[in-house]
Amino acid sequence: MRAVDIIIKKRDGLRLTAGEIRFFIENYTAGRIPDEQASALAMAIFFRGMDYEETAAMTLAMAESGKQVDLSSIRGVKVDKHSTGGIGDKTTLVVGPVTAACGIPVAKMSGRALGFTGGTIDKLESIPGFNTSVAISDMVEQVNRIGLCVAGQTEELAPADKKLYALRDITGTVDSIPLIAASIMSKKIAAGADAIVLDVKYGSGAFMKTKEDAQKLADTMCGIGNTVGRKTLAVLNSMEEPLGNCVGNSVEVAEAIEVLKGGGPADLVSHCVELSANMISLGLGMDFAAAEKLAAEKLSDGSALGKFAEMVEAQGGDPEVCADPERVLGKGAFSRWICAEKDGVIQKVDAYRTGMAAFTLGAGRAVKTDPADPHAGVILIAKSGSVVKKGDRLCLLLSDSPVRDEAVGFIKEAFVFGGGNE
Ligand code: URA
Repeated sequence: MRAVDIIIKKRDGLRLTAGEIRFFIENYTAGRIPDEQASALAMAIFFRGMDYEETAAMTLAMAESGKQVDLSSIRGVKVDKHSTGGIGDKTTLVVGPVTAACGIPVAKMSGRALGFTGGTIDKLESIPGFNTSVAISDMVEQVNRIGLCVAGQTEELAPADKKLYALRDITGTVDSIPLIAASIMSKKIAAGADAIVLDVKYGSGAFMKTKEDAQKLADTMCGIGNTVGRKTLAVLNSMEEPLGNCVGNSVEVAEAIEVLKGGGPADLVSHCVELSANMISLGLGMDFAAAEKLAAEKLSDGSALGKFAEMVEAQGGDPEVCADPERVLGKGAFSRWICAEKDGVIQKVDAYRTGMAAFTLGAGRAVKTDPADPHAGVILIAKSGSVVKKGDRLCLLLSDSPVRDEAVGFIKEAFVFGGGNE
């Protein structure tokens, strides 16, 4: 078998066999197929697509390209959750503790920010001392002891995806449904959970721009998960506007703590309850309405907040962050208010442009090795539906370095005004 023949077959729109896909992935991971050929195959898949069987074969080959995490020594049904990326998405910081507070073990591996989308690991690392490099054996011990651990993905997990994703990122081949499905599900399957809740986003701040494409991606991922014996379900959510009011790292931790205390913005609370309820219903075999009620109770009675504090302490952070987030997290040395330049009603705060503003302030990274600024971010005061007068505050920009004009440009463009006077 030759790599070039597999590329030509896909370039010409033909189906690849499971054997051909496995040959390509195994040899690419081992360094026997060069990046040039993997880029060509990714581009051929981007244009020609892959059917369900091809996508499933690619997922399994990538999942088996590295270590498979064994969580069998954790008691109970282990439930994982994955979001396909977004702006202001701090849901893991809330749904992990809510689910764990219901007695469901949560051993979650999360990613870092890349480009305009945020990453849970950078958010958690904005808590001074918080350690996200946890060995699998320590993760298992922590989950058996307190029910919850959120850590960075180990290097050995799905190495084929790591190599391929880096290539896709620089060759314009990220936003392909089969490639995204294989990338996400290979990592989820290798991470060892029994059940998976997928949070699939669509809109300006998501990879999938339309709800129809998000549904196709969700169907493909659920099909693959269920075929390999992991109970998998998906919820679809709009990412036209950021989730909640804060976008960045420490600002998102502070907002998540607000939700864990029973407060927080309504859009964020209802999304966290929906995701938690799905995780609870998979973990405890409960009907959705009862699970939803239980999730809301765990937020209002303080038990989810207690779980979050236990996790912070277990991973080396200061649990006082729950009582006094501002003091423990600190804040950016530089800030700038952005005010309305006219009267009007805000029609939309564009998620992509807000993400780009936070990224330009330093919250994200252009390449994986860049550091992320823990204090950089955006706090939105106005969102869609807000009625504002000229001079009213729309948002606050924060950073540990001087606020760049480029960030101001992005955030001003993010605010879409409806009717009003100039
Ligand atoms: N997230 C992933 O892990 N992979 C993709 O391809 C896209 C989003």
